[in-house]
Amino acid sequence: MDHKIIYNDDQVKWIVFGRDSQKPNAIIDTNEYAIESGNEVMILDPGGTEIFPYVLSSVSEVIGLEKVKKFFCSHQDPDIFSSLPLWMALCPNATIYMPRIWANFMSHFGKECAVHFHPVPDQGMRVKLGSEDLQIIPAHYLHASGNINLFCSRSRILFSGDIGSALVPLNYPFFVENFHDHIPFMRAFHQRWMPSESAKKAWIRNVRTLNPHMICPQHGAIIKGEAMVGQFLDWLDNLEVGVLSNV
Ligand SMILES: [Fe+2]
Ligand SMILES: [Fe+2]
Repeated sequence: MDHKIIYNDDQVKWIVFGRDSQKPNAIIDTNEYAIESGNEVMILDPGGTEIFPYVLSSVSEVIGLEKVKKFFCSHQDPDIFSSLPLWMALCPNATIYMPRIWANFMSHFGKECAVHFHPVPDQGMRVKLGSEDLQIIPAHYLHASGNINLFCSRSRILFSGDIGSALVPLNYPFFVENFHDHIPFMRAFHQRWMPSESAKKAWIRNVRTLNPHMICPQHGAIIKGEAMVGQFLDWLDNLEVGVLSNV
């Protein structure tokens, strides 16, 4: 599994893990992100059971498991968090942030995990990590009915879950190089998986006020720089979603 430091200053570091060449073909490729501040690490959408060994060895090597104090689950899909019981066996005191409405469903993964759940209210909340004050923002119906994103105001990175995701080949770069060439990898995914025009418009309005420098999706490549973030938001604004397309 490959990794890349995507932001680093004296307060906060962001790392992306992905492009897992060992994963079976039947499994959709995912990006896992880690934020490090002080002696604390939060892992965002830790991934599925199948890829757990690869994520674990990368995180252990690059960060150190003892620093992992928090997990963030954007929604309830298996590719987001089915590895959680395995992580909790190794990080038994970590706190898991997830959308409020999914907490009782995600508890089916085991009561040992559930005692460490922190359900996030519909309007979002703030979370402290080391010296950083991270902002969990709503992204409901994009695509799950309870769905959250995370914004770091220092780095101006928005972790967007499935929004901005793209189904790309395994050798694709971590950062989008040409936005127009990237659109075909995103279009059908967003048309099929994002069911609500009004939710999409509300999210775009909110994200424009945050003015992120990077949008980091759970699949595909990172959209970097204000110009490309603007291109992406304009493209999504004009895309008709909730369309039955082949993905
Ligand atoms: Fe999903
Ligand atoms: Fe996903």
